[in-house]
Amino acid sequence: MEKLETRCPLVDLNGIPMLKQVVTHFHRVETFQPFPEDLLISTYPKAGTTWTQEIVDLILHHDDFEKCKRAPIHVRVPFLEMNSADPAFSGTCLLEKMDPPRVIKTHLPLQLIPQSFWDAGCKVIYVARNPKDNAVSYFHFDRMNLVQPDPGSWSQYLDKFMNGEVSWGSWYDHVKGYWKERDKKKILYLFFEDMKEDPGHEVKQIAKFLGYNLSQRMIEEIVQRTTFESMRDNPMANYSDVPENIFNRQASEFMRKGEVGDWENHFSPEQNATFDEHYKKMMADLPIPFRFVI
Ligand code: A3P
Repeated sequence: MEKLETRCPLVDLNGIPMLKQVVTHFHRVETFQPFPEDLLISTYPKAGTTWTQEIVDLILHHDDFEKCKRAPIHVRVPFLEMNSADPAFSGTCLLEKMDPPRVIKTHLPLQLIPQSFWDAGCKVIYVARNPKDNAVSYFHFDRMNLVQPDPGSWSQYLDKFMNGEVSWGSWYDHVKGYWKERDKKKILYLFFEDMKEDPGHEVKQIAKFLGYNLSQRMIEEIVQRTTFESMRDNPMANYSDVPENIFNRQASEFMRKGEVGDWENHFSPEQNATFDEHYKKMMADLPIPFRFVI
């Protein structure tokens, strides 16, 4: 079995900084055979991936929610580019054993999604989160996930985030890449802030995108099962099966806060002013309607 390398430096994959493990096994992504019924859930890391995965799995199993307890979320919805020499810890190996429609997690920026997914006509749910909360969440995740590079101090981390020097690259390029293509491809573009503000509305939208017209009672049930508290206490959704040598829970929790606006507890007034200036410049060509508070 491949030895788990911790706190590895990032390596380049077509201009995107990535975990070495992702790059080493990327040929598996390039040769992966998608089915037209497959669904991609794509996000920049820490934008609400797990939340969306759980919502989608519940929608697909609305006839029997118990089926969503069949396995941890990372087994029910495998991680496309997270592969290793061990088939049990390889997204593509797990996926190859599943029947369509498969739900597939990815953090790949749009330009790295293999053409075969677009040729097959696969649907994509993309979830974006405002960059201030996204950076805070990613910082705490990198403190606890020992596979990720050491984030350093908050201030060092924020610089790296703004410069796109973190795993999966620039937040700006990521959110813009999918935004530009959303009408040309089958991309449902969602926002974490909308999910938080009106989860029922977003669950209904996701269900509709997947071809389901669910009753109001069913939608409310899915909302209840996917609140932050429900998922935090659900061993099949909270990553509690990941061992301590990978997730150091003394540093932070996977299900940390799940809020909009926690950035206000992290950004100093100077950091906030610098960030706002940078954001304005970076988003000038494509103003995506992000909300930093709700
Ligand atoms: P915080 O670190 O701000 O708490 P991902 O799944 O993409 O890794 O995103 C993780 C972030 O989503 C974490 O944010 C986590 O707490 C939050 N999250 C997960 N499930 C959630 C839910 N049901 N409701 C709100 N936030 C949720």
